[in-house]
Amino acid sequence: MSVLVTGGTGYIGSHTCVVLIEAGYDVIIADNLYNSKLDVLDKIESITGKKPKFYCADVSNKEELDVIFKENKIDSILHFAGYKAVGESVGVPLKYYRNNLLGTIALAECALEYQVPKFIFSSSATVYGDGSVPYRESNPLLPSTNPYGETKVMSERILSDTAKVNPGLSVTLLRYFNPIGAHKSGLIGEIPVGTPNNLMPYITQVAKGKLAKLRVFGSDYDTVDGTGVRDFIHVVDLAYGHMAALEKMKQGVNVYNLGTGKGTSVLELIHTFQNVNNITIPYDIVDRRPGDVASSYADVSKAWEELGWKTEKSVEDMCRDSWFFEKNQ
Ligand code: NAD
Ligand code: UD1
Repeated sequence: MSVLVTGGTGYIGSHTCVVLIEAGYDVIIADNLYNSKLDVLDKIESITGKKPKFYCADVSNKEELDVIFKENKIDSILHFAGYKAVGESVGVPLKYYRNNLLGTIALAECALEYQVPKFIFSSSATVYGDGSVPYRESNPLLPSTNPYGETKVMSERILSDTAKVNPGLSVTLLRYFNPIGAHKSGLIGEIPVGTPNNLMPYITQVAKGKLAKLRVFGSDYDTVDGTGVRDFIHVVDLAYGHMAALEKMKQGVNVYNLGTGKGTSVLELIHTFQNVNNITIPYDIVDRRPGDVASSYADVSKAWEELGWKTEKSVEDMCRDSWFFEKNQ
């Protein structure tokens, strides 16, 4: 079975390539290296013993995609490629709408043209907006506070509408919660460009001394300790979730939350990181960050019942593996 992994040199894509190669899939990566480096291919080879075939291609460019689909018989598409910086998307919305929507459209066109039966899309819990937790797949999709989130809602719609009228194409929309952690080898992980916006990369950079102090955004939320609560998921568990979704894909349109089902507060994450790694993370409590929700965690029963998938790794594992990766940088 050959799988086209767009964004396969990126953070989540690279971990998913490792899991797929280890399970015997033929993996072909398409990535334009906007937010990743070519040496990730060597790292995937070090871990799995196999270097995936690679195309430096822009997935929003249909002609570049045609080359890949003509040269390879693709059985499934895993579409990770996209821009993901929420703050930047507010400042330059067209950059996000162009890249993320045209990528989805061009790939869906290829799926139909080259008769690819399975398409998996990287969506996000951001589509639930500020709804009530735990988020279920049947919850209404709420307007996002940013263009990045809108591209996820729109891409879901584009792919669902396409699959509904094309019975030869089945689509699975995977709504990720907060992926953190890294492969246990310390070879692949998340490498943010510039100052990180997300919590775990910020913590690891403070731990390393690259950044002086963490800012905790808000301590007056209606949560266990007043700080934000998130459903952190180990990126390797997330990668296995993709393989389960691929293997158990049902005809039509499928939607699954990929999370642990458990909320962890910002302070709980900091304390766990400090304890398992024996490092102090200096922090200040500051005002809330605009656009943040108090609590976000998944109802994961659908993924368990239909995909037979659930997470195995703990928050301790996530903190240990994130730090091990950062230390190796
Ligand atoms: P990432 O930036 O590490 O990986 C994305 C990859 O896509 C990068 O290697 C980048 O070079 C590539 N890319 C971007 N635009 C491209 C284009 N037009 N053509 C070809 N390649 C292109 O991001 P990630 O964290 O691995 O996220 C993967 C997907 O999961 C994204 O769609 C993201 O929106 C989604 N997602 C991520 C998170 C998260 O917290 N990381 C949460 C929810 C959803
Ligand atoms: C953010 C995005 C979401 C995106 C996800 C992955 C927003 C509003 N949401 O999710 O759309 O899918 O990243 O890219 O940007 N925190 C701190 N200090 C920091 C950083 C974060 O206290 O320096 C807190 C936040 O306030 C939040 C929690 O940590 O409560 C998690 O934040 P973050 O890692 O940025 O993820 P989300 O906001 O959940």
